[in-house]
Amino acid sequence: MMKKFLIVANWKMSPETPARAKALFSGIKKAAARAKNAQTVVCPPALYLSSMATAGKNVAVGAQDVSYESDGTHTGEISARMLKAAGAKYVIIGHSERRARGETNGIVAKEIGAALKEKLIVILCIGERERDTHGEYFSFIESQLRESLAGIAKKDMGRLVIAYEPVWAIGEKAKEADTPEGTFEISLFIRKILATIIGKEKAFAVQILYGGSVNPNNAAVFLKRGGVQGLLVGRASLDARTFGEILKSASMTKNI
Ligand code: PGA
Repeated sequence: MMKKFLIVANWKMSPETPARAKALFSGIKKAAARAKNAQTVVCPPALYLSSMATAGKNVAVGAQDVSYESDGTHTGEISARMLKAAGAKYVIIGHSERRARGETNGIVAKEIGAALKEKLIVILCIGERERDTHGEYFSFIESQLRESLAGIAKKDMGRLVIAYEPVWAIGEKAKEADTPEGTFEISLFIRKILATIIGKEKAFAVQILYGGSVNPNNAAVFLKRGGVQGLLVGRASLDARTFGEILKSASMTKNI
């Protein structure tokens, strides 16, 4: 069976109130129910998770981060078990905005271990800060992958999703998204590296997403020509209509 595209909404530190979160989520749920050929995942601030746990058709919820500690005295931290109990099925790990606050590949590896132990699906974010002309970004991405996945057991690979997000293409300050051709090249490279870690067959089954200035105008092109099986959407996921358009184009695009 053809796998559905995975379209992930990363709300980051928005919206500002539970009421707005609820309204946005209900708009997205409606759009997701119509987008039958896409699997939608909404990642709100952790505080809103439990009120969104009864997700609708084709929708699951996820967290934006997880502690690598499983219990104990860790002020401000949230464990994988707590996220699971609050209704999360997915968790984004190693987002560039977390890495900018000091998360290393070593920390990311421990977080992945903690999340997989609770059987959450991990969305591991990787991506270069700069696309240099000598191709050094390939080795940067390779070490992010190898170091972040250092401790992962082969049996857990079925719960791994890789999100390729070039840092220069993310957020308000980004000039533009990557090109689908650029992403295509990297997606092949990611799969090649994965194959050396977990074997060809398992590497082939891992879903790779593109993220960074995704919008309704470029979503379908990335899915058609970027070699990816889904998208990680920031700003454009904060408006139900805009995100709904992305879901619609994903649902209408063939996943080959
Ligand atoms: P953006 O963010 O879509 O607003 O560029 C993507 C992300 O950071 O995941």
